[in-house]
Amino acid sequence: MTPRTSGELVIAIDGPSGAGKGSVSRAIARALGCRYVDTGAMYRAVAWMAVHDGLPLDDEVALGALAARVELTLKDQTVTVEGHDVTGAIRTAEIDAAAARVARMPGVRDALVGRQRAYAAAGGLVMEGRDIGTTVFPAADIKIYLDASPDERASRRASDAAHGMGGEAAALSEVASALAARDQSDRTRPSSPLVMADDAVLVDTTGIALDGVVERVLSIVRERLDARG
Ligand code: DC
Repeated sequence: MTPRTSGELVIAIDGPSGAGKGSVSRAIARALGCRYVDTGAMYRAVAWMAVHDGLPLDDEVALGALAARVELTLKDQTVTVEGHDVTGAIRTAEIDAAAARVARMPGVRDALVGRQRAYAAAGGLVMEGRDIGTTVFPAADIKIYLDASPDERASRRASDAAHGMGGEAAALSEVASALAARDQSDRTRPSSPLVMADDAVLVDTTGIALDGVVERVLSIVRERLDARG
């Protein structure tokens, strides 16, 4: 397929943790020559900075202000906050929990959603998260909702070395219960809960290897772009 780098092209990829959003979104962005933005890394970076600065995680006003002003860069897979390379540090169990807390706060979400929308000005975009197709870009060209069974998502997350939980560090049952708690928090928060957009295409990745999922998503993208002409 012809790589498409139009400034207007926005592909939203949402779904719960462990559904494969990161690997799939990166592969799609590469195939299309678009920028890839991981919005979960933005919530994680705010949480990391708050913990680093000793900000109370229930101080919504301070956390909202932090989310609006913190210097944050996402480049390839490297994440920096105020000049600190936090690529690995934001993928710990402590930051998993802290990020889910800050992501519940409307003040934090408003600040980050504004920053996320600004990425579309710079060119074609594949953005992954929980609310990209519902809130950040409700008019996205293509919306994909990736899901997988809870068992499969937990086992993927447990063997995800990039997440710092690989090896013997976390038993599968611990990962599964932490994931279930986070899912519950993401799906039930009043502000932009994790929910599939009405016009998203559901892709169930249970039992399908990465290549197969990427192929399926690319074929959905191709169909949509062809239909648009
Ligand atoms: O995708 P992730 O696990 O890195 O996301 C970290 C946290 O941020 C998780 O609790 C979900 C939340 N999040 C969100 O609320 N909205 C997004 N667009 C992306 C992530």
